[in-house]
Amino acid sequence: MGYELAMRVWRGDAEGGGLEDFTVEVEEGMVVLDAVHRLQATQANDLAVRWNCKAGKCGSCSAEVNGKPRLMCMTRLNLFGPGETITITPLRTFPVVRDLVTDVTYNYEKAEEVPTFAPGRPAGDDGHHRMFQEDVDRIQEFRKCIECFMCQNVCHVIRDHEDNKQVFAGPRLMIRYAELEMHPLDTNDRLELLRAEAGISYCNITKCCTEVCPEHIKITDNGIIPLKERVVDASYDPLAALGRRLFRR
Ligand code: SF4
Ligand code: F3S
Ligand code: FES
Repeated sequence: MGYELAMRVWRGDAEGGGLEDFTVEVEEGMVVLDAVHRLQATQANDLAVRWNCKAGKCGSCSAEVNGKPRLMCMTRLNLFGPGETITITPLRTFPVVRDLVTDVTYNYEKAEEVPTFAPGRPAGDDGHHRMFQEDVDRIQEFRKCIECFMCQNVCHVIRDHEDNKQVFAGPRLMIRYAELEMHPLDTNDRLELLRAEAGISYCNITKCCTEVCPEHIKITDNGIIPLKERVVDASYDPLAALGRRLFRR
């Protein structure tokens, strides 16, 4: 059954912009991205919106819906009350390119600073690498990241302080560091980089990042806090740090 949906959509570019009101004919079962596409097809052909998979897996369609970051393709319209106006704005932490599209280059620049996976020599004579299942499970959680950057968007360290982007890589990158640092076969040491360049101490464990992650990655408890412990060990408890390196824990 169709109904009229009231939408407020931010329109503009790097120079400025504002919210525009629209009424769009939608049907039951649609998601926010469907409504945006309907709007684009019927009333605002030049509306800029980034999307790709429409299945919650590419991370492209993140935006703020009624002030909360969401994947538009995974947000059903029936989440909102009857007659409620849906307000859609671009992710606030990143510069606007146009309308709902932001420039997320910052995240990729920070990713380039992370030393790549560097596996050691295979332990066995047969040339195979082997890992314990518990180690596989631990890093597998981090590999679920779809780079939607919603965690980056809500982290107050960079959301409210533009200058901090120079000194803090943000929660998504902490998860990338965790994925590599906790890999039992990796031989690179990124702890000094985490401290000095990625600025892990800027995180004060507010856990807002964890709350919005669509992949339910426990960013703070399973990623950032263990990394903080490793960085502290490396600086103040060399024996503990050596033990971790030897046993890759
Ligand atoms: Fe998105 Fe979660 Fe990855 Fe952050 S960690 S970019 S919220 S999937
Ligand atoms: Fe930011 Fe997450 Fe830490 S929101 S302050 S990175 S716990
Ligand atoms: Fe891919 Fe929404 S379009 S996550």
